Amino acid sequence: MSEKAPLEKFNIKISQCTKCSLRATCQRVVFGSGSAEAQIMLLGEAPGKKEDELGIPFVGSTGRILDKMLEGIKIKREDVYLTNICKCRPPENRDPLPEEVTTCAYWLEKQIQIINPKIIITLGRFALNYFLPQAKISAVHGIILEINTEKIGTIKIFPLHHPAAARINRQTRALFTQDFQKIPTILKQIKKEQ
Ligand code: URA
Repeated sequence: MSEKAPLEKFNIKISQCTKCSLRATCQRVVFGSGSAEAQIMLLGEAPGKKEDELGIPFVGSTGRILDKMLEGIKIKREDVYLTNICKCRPPENRDPLPEEVTTCAYWLEKQIQIINPKIIITLGRFALNYFLPQAKISAVHGIILEINTEKIGTIKIFPLHHPAAARINRQTRALFTQDFQKIPTILKQIKKEQ
């Protein structure tokens, strides 16, 4: 039998998690999907109804926006890594509680260490505030921020609005699209720096 790759092995551990009460009310642990060698990690908030049903992040109506954006910049979904701050769906799609975010951060930190992406695109305020608790999306969206974290070290993040917000608000959609289109240039820049 072939040996499982580190991320695959690790994701099995995540799917067995019962560290917080969210596991009791969700159907599946949505650990993430995409390439273990991804240069880009896209980080959302928590799985929704469809994601909970299928066990895959960003597969509902919000995910379709993300797919369209990725298609627009000619990046394949399977070449990035998609995951969320919370791996389990909060009941009735409520916001994750601070203690749920803190508990689940254990898994995210390890995923970042294993995948070692060049940049993390944070989608929405939960993902942004995980790295920068005081930051406001309206002030920092569309700019690269280099931050030092105790557990992961120095990491570049590129904060964007959440695609769900882009789905319901025309102005947010325009900003989200504009920011998303900067990604190919950012990747080129990162490659040059290597
Ligand atoms: N919203 C998120 O933040 N994550 C998902 O996986 C789906 C919707």
